[in-house]
Amino acid sequence: MKTGLIIFGMVICVIASSAADDPALITKGEQLFLTKVCATCHQVKPDQIAPAGIAMKAPKFIGDFWGKERDVTLGFGGPVKKAMFDDAYFIESIRNPIAKIAKEAAAPMPPPPQVDDNEMKALIAYVKSLSGSKGAKGVLKDLTYKLYEGSWTKLPDFSSLTPKQSGAIADGVIDQNISKRRDGFALVFEGKLTVPKEGTFTFRLGSDDGSRLEVNGKEIISNDGIHAETEKEGSAKLPAGEHVVRVSYFEQAGGEHLGLSVRGPGIGQLQLARESVATKSASTQTGIPIEPANGEAVIYRNFIEGASPRGIGVGYPEKLNLCFDANTMQLAMLWQGSFIDGARHWSGRGTGFQPPSGFYVLKLTKEQPFAALQNAEAPWPKIKVRAENIQFRGYRLAEQRRPVFQYDVGKARVEDYSAPVAGEKPSFIRQLTITDSGSESLWYLAAADGSIVAKAGGYKIGKDLHITFPGWTGPAPLLRESAGRKELLLLVPLKEGGAKFSQQYHWDLE
Ligand code: HEC
Repeated sequence: MKTGLIIFGMVICVIASSAADDPALITKGEQLFLTKVCATCHQVKPDQIAPAGIAMKAPKFIGDFWGKERDVTLGFGGPVKKAMFDDAYFIESIRNPIAKIAKEAAAPMPPPPQVDDNEMKALIAYVKSLSGSKGAKGVLKDLTYKLYEGSWTKLPDFSSLTPKQSGAIADGVIDQNISKRRDGFALVFEGKLTVPKEGTFTFRLGSDDGSRLEVNGKEIISNDGIHAETEKEGSAKLPAGEHVVRVSYFEQAGGEHLGLSVRGPGIGQLQLARESVATKSASTQTGIPIEPANGEAVIYRNFIEGASPRGIGVGYPEKLNLCFDANTMQLAMLWQGSFIDGARHWSGRGTGFQPPSGFYVLKLTKEQPFAALQNAEAPWPKIKVRAENIQFRGYRLAEQRRPVFQYDVGKARVEDYSAPVAGEKPSFIRQLTITDSGSESLWYLAAADGSIVAKAGGYKIGKDLHITFPGWTGPAPLLRESAGRKELLLLVPLKEGGAKFSQQYHWDLE
């Protein structure tokens, strides 16, 4: 083991020290980037998407990335660390993709075709040559900003508000990161764009949440309201010379983004904001992905395929997601990777149920979690429309906006909180807290499936799920045959009117 590591380290040094950046090597690397299929996942030109990389969010090799620090996780969903994008990191990314995973990605990189040391040198030379400040050029002259704080659902009338802060932006690049707050703020940018000749100029404005673009005081693009990252286009006929560009933007909660670009005669394509605007083709293919941001969970309350119409989706930054069914009070689904695509509901492209975007979707029991059974043989109540004797009471948000679902079972109040556990073998721990009960005990339906067998201190449910009850001290779980399938029940004693216990859901994919 130790020897292996040392040898691996030496290989990195040898390649790294001899990777010269001559044009022939770069050309060879460019070809290899195609033949080794890197280009199918990694986008290298702003206007050419890499189709196979979209769902995985494969990093783009665009802009200033080489020699820069990036956030990676050690193992998929593991602890976050900083890593320098250099030769060694590049080599490790290809030879041992699972070691460090770009945090922005939705899945680890699948092992690519074999790359020998000479090919590696060429690939490094090529990818390195792509890096540089090719993003925002800082072409806006006399750029200023005004920062406002507050909570809005659409762009406010800024003339009636006093900015919290204002000033000049020396590098001429529009950047929403000027706000130290990540929620509840608004920004107005104003600067001058010079165009060398007369013509029609097309602007693209992308934002999360709302934004507006005005040129010389006239609205060109309205992208207002609360929404995930959405791009809009608008054009203006402009004479040669200087034009006043004004961008208004607000962010209520969740993820935030502001991108602006312009193209037209004599200027080609210019990026005017720090963040780039997704290209048209990319946005139609990916729809409007909703993803957690800033370490906070994100909640999606539209129809989710696989749950009832009262499904509540929760995406966690650990890249683990769940859907809670507010009809039955059960966890209806768990999945890994990307959360959900909001396009169906936000862009008016139709109604209906949206499937989860990620992978390894586990569909769980559709019956209510708690019931007061007469005895251990009594059948579990069937759901008619809603769960029997159970009332949904909504949810409260705990730390990092993670929801704690609340419902009443008869006289008992239940708090149902699921915490994602990231790591090589991810899982969810569902913590159930019961209070204020007049009864002595309640039955809990941990699982119902065609196949349930005891395995490794827990139970294997169907093909892909393993469950355990960490810290459980009550009576042994009851595995019974009922209604033509297996059911796994816990009899939960309610001492002094309450109880607290946990069920852990592990993906068991072997
Ligand atoms: C099937 C899609 C796919 C292919 C093919 C692919 N990659 Fe990746 N690559 C990814 C994804 C997804 C990530 C991000 C997750 C990770 O870091 O493992 C990634 C990460 C990387 C990283 C780290 C980037 C960063 O921003 O941290 C490098 C470098 C890289 N790939 C190079 C290559 C090269 C070179 C090839 C071709 C030999 C290649 N990849 C082929 C999907 C792919």
